[in-house]
Amino acid sequence: MFPERLETARLMLRPIAPGDAAAIFDGYAQDPEVTRFLTWRPHVAITETEAHIARCQVEAQSKTYVLVGKRDGKIIGSFALRHPAPHRLGYGYVLARPFWGMGLMTEVLSHATQWALDQRDIWRIGDVCDCENIGSARVMEKVGLEREGLLRRWIMHPNVSSEPRDCFAYARSR
Ligand SMILES: CC(C)(COP(=O)(O)OP(=O)(O)OC[C@H]1O[C@@H](n2cnc3c(N)ncnc32)[C@H](O)[C@@H]1OP(=O)(O)O)[C@@H](O)C(=O)NCCC(=O)NCCS
Repeated sequence: MFPERLETARLMLRPIAPGDAAAIFDGYAQDPEVTRFLTWRPHVAITETEAHIARCQVEAQSKTYVLVGKRDGKIIGSFALRHPAPHRLGYGYVLARPFWGMGLMTEVLSHATQWALDQRDIWRIGDVCDCENIGSARVMEKVGLEREGLLRRWIMHPNVSSEPRDCFAYARSR
């Protein structure tokens, strides 16, 4: 059910591929600021990035895209769409640090949300972010997702704490 590609004003989203490992490893997978509120630790060897890509490619309930700048063809991040139940979608996103604050992830999530709610069988799109991940919460608010609640001890973010973290849940439905 996932689209093969998505396109926004400034970015192409195409499926992640083994040949993307070096760009992802060099661009953001090693960066502790980028990975701070993610479920995985910064990569220390490119083999970890290669393994991550291999896992993404076999996952049936989600599809991971790389974000490619239309002007220069460079990979600057990734976006995953998830399909945990037939009627709803989730997502995850990450952007290399030099590209933060330019509205890029708002552009991507806005497009993906519109695409999702245009699908006949999809009634809801939403996901969670760490309660301290102000940038991610702001992206979801700018896209018009509603903060539905605070989920106590919802997820492990090992770069912040060894204890489960509180998360905000955001979603839009039709
Ligand atoms: C979260 C992330 C994807 C945001 O991407 P981005 O393209 O920089 O986001 P945008 O530019 O579209 O919008 C970010 C908004 O958050 C705001 N913001 C970012 N960091 C902030 C902070 N620490 N405090 C307050 N506001 C912040 C920006 O000002 C902007 O809002 P504005 O347009 O009203 O000024 C990016 O920072 C990232 O990749 N972080 C690391 C990975 C991550 O945390 N992923 C999400 C996991 S849930």
